[in-house]
Amino acid sequence: MDERIARVRQELAGDVVILGHHYQRDEVIQFADYRGDSYRLSQVASQTGAPFIVFCGVHFMAESADVLSHSGQQVILPDLGAGCSMADMADATQVEDCWEQLEKLGIAGDLTPVTYMNSTAAIKAFCGEHGGLVCTSSNAAGAFRWAFARSSKLLFLPDQHLGRNTGFSMGIPLSEMVVWDPYMLLGGNTPDSLRRARVILWKGHCSVHQRFLPEHVERVRARFPGMRVIVHPECRFDVCRKADDVGSTDQLIKIIAQAPPGSSFAVGTEIHLVNRLAQQFRREGKKVITLDESGCLCTTMYRISPQHLCWAMENLVEGRVVNRISVPQDVKHWARVALDRMLQVQ
Ligand code: 13P
Ligand code: SF4
Repeated sequence: MDERIARVRQELAGDVVILGHHYQRDEVIQFADYRGDSYRLSQVASQTGAPFIVFCGVHFMAESADVLSHSGQQVILPDLGAGCSMADMADATQVEDCWEQLEKLGIAGDLTPVTYMNSTAAIKAFCGEHGGLVCTSSNAAGAFRWAFARSSKLLFLPDQHLGRNTGFSMGIPLSEMVVWDPYMLLGGNTPDSLRRARVILWKGHCSVHQRFLPEHVERVRARFPGMRVIVHPECRFDVCRKADDVGSTDQLIKIIAQAPPGSSFAVGTEIHLVNRLAQQFRREGKKVITLDESGCLCTTMYRISPQHLCWAMENLVEGRVVNRISVPQDVKHWARVALDRMLQVQ
């Protein structure tokens, strides 16, 4: 597989750029021209001139790359089964229904919708059209500031944990945040609690990161005194409160890279990235372990295999584009507005 991929990669040089998210397995990410967190990869997608972008990541990332790419470029997701369970937790019709209910309550006029990158293009378009924007885990605080400069309230989709963690770190008390359950009338809230709330959090989560528990942090503290605990902001509120640092995948890597030799870290994020960091930084005398001993795998990221990558690339050599991700034009316009706003927010 390695030889075949290397060969087609060489044949397609200049025509293809391969983007790899940090959660990809080693056998795949070794072929990435650029690796990064969602923010960095969307920046690259908006800047590259290559006619084909092969996205080794998940569906919402490939969709965003398609929205941000120039006309004539085509985005390929090597396995269409590479979705994201969190993105599936907010359906566009549910979000429209939520907005309608908030309009009837007279709240929507003073509310900015902000969606996490991990959502469908339709939801990004909804946010763009309603004066809102997209954010990633690396610029969520900037997106909150952007939204609060325009309205006194914010609807955050679809990850309640990232929304709560970001709001709290910016000084918004938990009592001013409510959770919207799309399967309940008024999201399971009273009209008064919705009127009082500054942040309305969609009831979505990442099944991978939600597995980390406060007990895991306590166990590490007891077993390895001095070890720093660093976690992704998709982790639960209690876990993020107990951690020493919270950040996007790129930020977590930077924290370890900048630490002096002899430092040690327990990392709360996807296991492929943690294992890679453990190996990479062992050479610099740094210890990296996973926060939860049973490890935490994103099965959908894992769907991208060397075989799928090879198949997609060999088809390109034959002049066939397989697994193209193409966002419909009507959705593209407003999704682009929301994504462009994101790229301007730090
Ligand atoms: P990052 O933007 O931090 O890479 O996160 C993407 C993601 O899906 C985490 O689950
Ligand atoms: Fe989605 Fe979670 Fe996987 Fe990220 S780690 S792609 S949020 S399921």
